[in-house]
Amino acid sequence: MRTQIITSFGGTDQFKPLELPIPKVKPGYVLIKVAATSVNPVDYKIRAGIYSGIAPEFPAILHGDVAGTITAVGEDAPQFKIGDEVYGCAGGVKGEQGALSEYMLADARLIAIKPKSITMQEAAALPLVSITAWEALVDKLNLKPKQTILIHGGSGGVGHIAVQLALSLGATVYTTVSSQENAKRLSYLPAKQIINYREESVDDYVNRVTGGKGFDFVFDTVGAKNLETSFKALAHYGTVVTTQANVTIDLSQLHSRSGDLKTVLMLIPLLFNKNREHHGKILLEIAKKVDAGEIKPLIYPQSFSFAHVNEAHELAESGKAYGKIVLRQAD
Ligand SMILES: NC(=O)c1ccc[n+]([C@@H]2O[C@H](COP(=O)([O-])OP(=O)(O)OC[C@H]3O[C@@H](n4cnc5c(N)ncnc54)[C@H](OP(=O)(O)O)[C@@H]3O)[C@@H](O)[C@H]2O)c1
Repeated sequence: MRTQIITSFGGTDQFKPLELPIPKVKPGYVLIKVAATSVNPVDYKIRAGIYSGIAPEFPAILHGDVAGTITAVGEDAPQFKIGDEVYGCAGGVKGEQGALSEYMLADARLIAIKPKSITMQEAAALPLVSITAWEALVDKLNLKPKQTILIHGGSGGVGHIAVQLALSLGATVYTTVSSQENAKRLSYLPAKQIINYREESVDDYVNRVTGGKGFDFVFDTVGAKNLETSFKALAHYGTVVTTQANVTIDLSQLHSRSGDLKTVLMLIPLLFNKNREHHGKILLEIAKKVDAGEIKPLIYPQSFSFAHVNEAHELAESGKAYGKIVLRQAD
């Protein structure tokens, strides 16, 4: 099978084509003929060596997100059959090779039947970011109707799914973006609920939008230095949940609101073989919401074949894209 692999960490020139044997299906796993994958920051951070400790074994096949068709089913995976069209985030990290390949071996607990109303490329955009949004909003915040949430990075991969998921849960949603163009891409939100963080300070939008009270919840998909902004946006007794806490930070703004800080690390089931069924179940719920028209992936207009994964990573790392960058298998 054709693959794109890396054998050392570094720039986007690390990707090389390599023919490898098709993996044999094993108990609990299915073999997927890969149709599409998408780029997540973890993929280019692994490639660059920033997250070298969680890289798959060399030659490493990167990318967790996959959409494709099952061609073989191992023992103990009775929920699937040959021909099923599935999606999931099932590898590209230590212990599980990834999706930049003609075929991918995937733990059946990590995948689900893909939403019927969208293409393979659209489905491949969803798994990692949808699971992250679900773990933040449902598992960590237990978000309820009429609660008010601020979601940072509403046009980003995690952010645009989190906004739609929060709306589908009945919450009142505000989000931050960097430009008018990105604001227009979020057609599901009234303009007054979209905040341009380059034009308005956190103090100003907290006053304008909440009358100075602050938001019950903040989902910080940017994290790190942006966490202080999230603390400042929080109401008394509110909760911030973040995907990125790699920062040394003064917690006094959080403490002065008697606030809580929670984190999400969606890779734990993959890395530690823990609670994997939960990811499959989340993807079933997400598929229902997609087919009900409640969640739609925002796909960046330029797509790439697997042979051009280097260009896809360059674009993702440039910070100039929005939504999700997808890659399609060559015919
Ligand atoms: N812990 C986990 O389980 C987990 C899971 C998924 C992702 N992550 C991490 O979470 C982060 C986001 O992932 P992603 O897939 O959403 O990345 P992404 O698609 O690159 O989106 C990031 C978004 O952040 C926005 N942004 C940048 N600076 C901002 C600021 N100061 N205020 C508000 N928005 C800002 C950008 O929008 P503009 O262009 O409009 O600024 C961009 O759309 C990454 O660091 C990733 O590694 C962690």
